[in-house]
Order: sequence, then structure tokens, then C-alpha cells
Amino acid sequence: MMKILFAASEIYPLIKTGGLADVAGALPLALRKKGCDVRLIMPAYNGILDKVAPIHNTINLGNPFGVGDLLLLESHLPENDTPIWLVQCQALFERDGGPYVDNHGLDYADNHLRFAAFSWAVAHIISNSTVINWQADIAHLNDWQTGLAAAYLHSWGNQDSAVVTTVHNLRYNGSFAQEKFYDLQLPHHMFNMHGLEFYGQFSALKAGLVYADAITTVSPTYASEILTPHYGDGLDGVLTAMQGKLTGILNGVDYDQWSPEKDALLAINYDKNSLHLKQDNKRLLLEECGLDTHLDQPVLGIVSRLTEQKGLDLVLEVMPNMLEQGCKLVLLGSGDKQLEAGFLELQKRYPQQVSVRIGYMEDYSHRLQAGVDALLIPSRFEPCGLTQLYALKYGTLPVVRRTGGLADTVFEGGDKANGFVFEEASAHALYEALQRTVEAFRDTEKWQQLQTNAMSYDYSWQAVTDQWLGLYQSLLNNR
Ligand code: ADP
Ligand code: GLC
Repeated sequence: MMKILFAASEIYPLIKTGGLADVAGALPLALRKKGCDVRLIMPAYNGILDKVAPIHNTINLGNPFGVGDLLLLESHLPENDTPIWLVQCQALFERDGGPYVDNHGLDYADNHLRFAAFSWAVAHIISNSTVINWQADIAHLNDWQTGLAAAYLHSWGNQDSAVVTTVHNLRYNGSFAQEKFYDLQLPHHMFNMHGLEFYGQFSALKAGLVYADAITTVSPTYASEILTPHYGDGLDGVLTAMQGKLTGILNGVDYDQWSPEKDALLAINYDKNSLHLKQDNKRLLLEECGLDTHLDQPVLGIVSRLTEQKGLDLVLEVMPNMLEQGCKLVLLGSGDKQLEAGFLELQKRYPQQVSVRIGYMEDYSHRLQAGVDALLIPSRFEPCGLTQLYALKYGTLPVVRRTGGLADTVFEGGDKANGFVFEEASAHALYEALQRTVEAFRDTEKWQQLQTNAMSYDYSWQAVTDQWLGLYQSLLNNR
């Protein structure tokens, strides 16, 4: 039985700021269903202990960074028994605010140390199997928060496990000033261009890339995009040099959580044979938002982090025009203050047609997906994107820019048609795509055909776990 330690800084349903949590909550489960022994490891942020089963073992890993002892707490997820280790260190992880930022949205000043300590704990249990009486075959790292684990393993001469690093987003590269490198307890010689050095700083993500046996990213298209300067965020050179160990494996959906026929968060369930019930969800959503409840106009939706990545400034540009044509907009999101203000302003101008909720609301995101007609995702880049996959299942047609995972999953025209796609990251191109969307919406038969098509796609984890098993196995064969 293959043994995999899956390390992530957020795991649904324990804590979530974006798609990484969804993936970390679902891929390990899919692998366990295929017979793998997968165990999770995550920092013990405030409130996490209340969400897992009672701790049944505590191991003291010592105080390698001089900020307090690192404790490894052994538990499991109540929903599905997956074993999880929580790395506890009061000074580093028990804080108000999110996993990465404080209550004002500012990065914690010691993030390098917080995630160095987490990564150190990951590497420590990989390289000392007696600590937990378990030897992982694969250390599966995710994003910059776990990248330093690959560096520790390398510096300690790890022979025990193969290291896989999955890039969910290259933009967050975990780079910090050079003087902070000396806090990491890594040998000085690793601060060079073949190691962690990144334009005079050090990058925790680069560590995860350089010292991994395999690098994956979350869609085939993003895997090729990141080899170019435009999408490479300064790491395209490094990635190109290591292209032989880079693959793109598309994310999946946990359809137990995200299916309109059994979603417990919806008042009315529906499937592709009862699309009229989606209309009821639309009415309920419009009522909940206090909008005009005529169902004959298209309702556009957005569920998103509000960041430059997501291209939502383009939506602000075209929306007044779309609203004048009778569309409505329902948005759930938070992030960039300027974007938040822009959407709130739009709501003020069009109170009958625009509803904006700033914040993070898991339950409402399901009702929104079920209630809107189309979901807007005009991303400048999108490693995979999960909201378009959820939308498809809910018969909500995605309107996307052709990039990354959006390009791999949403198609306009032809047999595969399940949404609307535009090329250029411009307000004009988005506007044209929205015109095509509204035109299709006015043709009820065509729209329903597209909805049925969209709902028939299978983007489940089951469809991609064999790719993961194949990758892990090839690494073990090469050892
Ligand atoms: P990213 O990880 O870049 O944010 P994804 O599309 O991969 O983008 O995943 C986003 C995840 O976060 C989805 O599960 C989406 O429903 C959820 N999400 C984003 N913003 C919010 C919000 N404000 N409230 C609730 N869920 C949100
Ligand atoms: C990142 C990406 C998103 C991807 C998610 C899960 O947050 O921005 O595109 O779907 O990770 O892999």
C-alpha cells in the first residue's frame, strides 16, 4: 500500500481561503478510496482543534527555531477518518485573523518563520520514521507554504521518500528578504541561484520546485503557460530547466459536496431532468438578495477572491452597460479594497439589479451557484479554477477567459459546448462574450441544451486519481 504524507496550509472543511483547501480536502480522500494510505499534515491554527476528532497522541518535536516547542498532535477528520497531524506552536499559529494575514488583511510579518517551522515538522517526520512509526513513500507538498520541507529534506540527505510539489498558484512564491534566510536553519550555501535564491531574495516555492522529484500543477494548460515569461512570474526559467519533471494534472470536484441533486445547502434540489427547479433556486436567490424577481432576465454571478488575478476590474467596466440591457449581478467575494469599493458602488447605483456581499460564506456560495444563470470568471491567469467546475454541475454556464484550467474545461461552440470563452484580457472581449451569453439565454431551447451539456461533464477526482497513482508509482520505480 502506497504511503503518502499530504502537506497543506489549508484543508476543507477545517479551514479554507481558496481552491487549495478544496483540493487538500478531496484529493487525499479520492486516493484513500483507491487504497492508498494518505495522511494529512497542517498547522494547528486557532479553532482547528474543535473541528477534528479528539487528539489521541501528542509528540514533542523540540524547539528548532527558538520560538517555542513544536508539538505534533495526532487526530483524524471526523467526516471520513483520514488521519491528520496538526503542528502546534502557540507563538506561530494561534492568532486572530486568517492563516496568512491578520484581521486587517496584512501578511503576518513572520510568515517565513511560521511556514519554515511547519515545513520543518513535515520534513522531520519524513526523515525520522520512528517519530510517528510510519514511513511515507511520498511527501506531497503544496504551494510555497510547504516548499521549505523539500529544502530541509535535501539538506538532511533524505533517501526515504520521493518529493512531489504541486503548484496551485505561482504568483504566491513565498519570497522574503535575504536576511530572513538566516532564520531558516538551512546551510548558507543553499542561498544561491541553483537553490533558494530568487532575484536577491529567497523563495520558499522555488525550494519546493528545485528540490522536488516531480513538480505538478493543476491543469495541463497552466503547466505549459508557466514556461513563458508572461505567466512564469519570474520562475519560468527555473521551470523550463526542469521541464522534464513537470506535469499538469487537472483538479477534480468532490461531487458529494457539489451536486445540485443532493446539495444539503440548497432549499430545492434539482438535476438536469428538472431544470425548472433551478428557476426556483433563482427566484429564492433574488428574494434573498432583495433584487427584482422577474426570472426572464439573465442573472450573472461571481464567487471569487477579489484579486488582480481574477480580472474582475473588467467586469466593473462592462457591467453598467449589461445592467442597462436588463442583466442582474450577484457577487460574493472579498479581497482587494478597491475592487470591493467598486462593486459596492455599482450596487448603490443599481439597487434593484446588483447584490454584493463582501465576505467569505461557504453556504451562500452554494445557493449562488444554484441560483444564477451564468458565472463570470474573466481571469488574467487561472492555474485550474474550481468555481467553473462547480458551475457546470449546477447548470450555470461559465463565461471565462481562455487561460489555464479554464481553457481545459470550458468550451464554446461545437459538440463540447458548455459555456462562453474569450481570448483577450480586455473589457471589450468580455463584453462581446457577455453579448453572446445574453443572446443564447434569450433562446430558451439552446440555453437548456447548453445547461444539459454542462451538467453531463464528469470532472470528478475519480477521473484523475489514476494519473496521480501513475505519477507516484513512477517515482517509486525510479528510486
Ligand atoms: P482560487 O483558489 O484561486 O481562489 P478556485 O476557483 O480554485 O480559485 O477556488 C476558489 C474556492 O473558494 C471555491 O471553492 C469557491 O467557491 C471559494 N470561494 C471563493 N470566494 C469565496 C467567498 N467569498 N465565499 C465563499 N467561498 C468562496
Ligand atoms: C489556486 C488557483 C486556482 C486553483 C486552486 C486549486 O488557488 O488560483 O486556479 O484552482 O489553487 O488548485
